[in-house]
Amino acid sequence: METLYLQCEGTTTDEEKIRQAGEILKQGGLVAFPTETVYGLGGDALNKESSHKIYSAKGRPSDNPLIVHIAKWEDIFAITKEVPCEAKKLADRFWPGPLTMILKKNEKVPYETTGGLETVAIRMPSHQVALRLIEQGGGYVAAPSANTSGRPSPTNAPDVAEDMNGKIDAIIDGGEVGIGIESTIIDLTVTPPQILRPGYITQAMLEETLGLVEQDVTMFEVRPDVAPKAPGMKYRHYAPKGELTIVKGEKEAVIAYINEQVKQAKEAGQKTGVIATEETKSCYESDVVLSAGSRAEEGSIARHLYSCLREFDRSEATLLFSESFESEGLGMAVMNRLLKAAGHHVIEV
Ligand code: TXA
Ligand code: MG
Repeated sequence: METLYLQCEGTTTDEEKIRQAGEILKQGGLVAFPTETVYGLGGDALNKESSHKIYSAKGRPSDNPLIVHIAKWEDIFAITKEVPCEAKKLADRFWPGPLTMILKKNEKVPYETTGGLETVAIRMPSHQVALRLIEQGGGYVAAPSANTSGRPSPTNAPDVAEDMNGKIDAIIDGGEVGIGIESTIIDLTVTPPQILRPGYITQAMLEETLGLVEQDVTMFEVRPDVAPKAPGMKYRHYAPKGELTIVKGEKEAVIAYINEQVKQAKEAGQKTGVIATEETKSCYESDVVLSAGSRAEEGSIARHLYSCLREFDRSEATLLFSESFESEGLGMAVMNRLLKAAGHHVIEV
């Protein structure tokens, strides 16, 4: 299939393109679009055929549920059995924005969209193009990240095209996203509420609104006895093709260790890559050195992490290293994704 490329530049001509894309969604087609977190691969959430198409375009296992995106608070009532007061409190503070809530679904939401679950994940994104597309597309847009299953999520339209060109009806190009990692997911069907995936909205921010909030124990460790509550978190994810190791420790020790490994790998004829920061990028002797951003601004690391991982694939480096990041606040979400990308392979020096 030929994929239509729709450039949105924040001008009045955008409106017609978004209307056209909304029409594709209503007809059961798929449209990739920007959100403030990552690009999403949208289909009509209430049409099971659309959900089938999403799974097949991504090559995603069908037990991994999709997030339903809405553009108006009231629309939450049409797809859920009950809306607890916690949902209203969170929506008042964080919607539209990078927070997904898990609630009990009603019969309008097909099991194809929820991966067979009785619950549904709902989010109201804040990106203007996303909000307008959802309105034009019928109000309920199922949208996983617009990457091939297992690959890093796309943060710009060319990265979407790399995975989805020829497989979906249209891609809306709205430029680079602002946040760069997926929304925080909170399960409101349990007491106390539980974070299933960390993101830009941190545990501390959620607790200010709700009181005690727990974390799914599998967010930072692999537990053979416990499956993650968000089915998607159990899969190998965000992984570059090369073998990635996170190196943890004092700055100088980390640099010395990585440079030694790089030297040995080069002698063995391997191509190497390092994820560094603005502060350290000039210290590495690797074939490819990518700066994720500055430690002084943790938002920049979140914004660039996935494009660094994709860049490694394009460079065909086979042995990869990354510095380690904070495990607080937004840094927690960054580390959660990096640990998955590295298959939890961490070395302390
Ligand atoms: O920021 C985001 O959330 C992006 C943008 C496009 O909105 N979307 C996104 O979707 O990250 P996806 O499909 O890549 O990740 C959705 C995650 C998966 O780990 C999935 O298992 C989990 O949400 N999930 C969805 N519905 C769920 C449910 N009912 N119960 C538990 N986990 C659920
Ligand atoms: Mg994803």
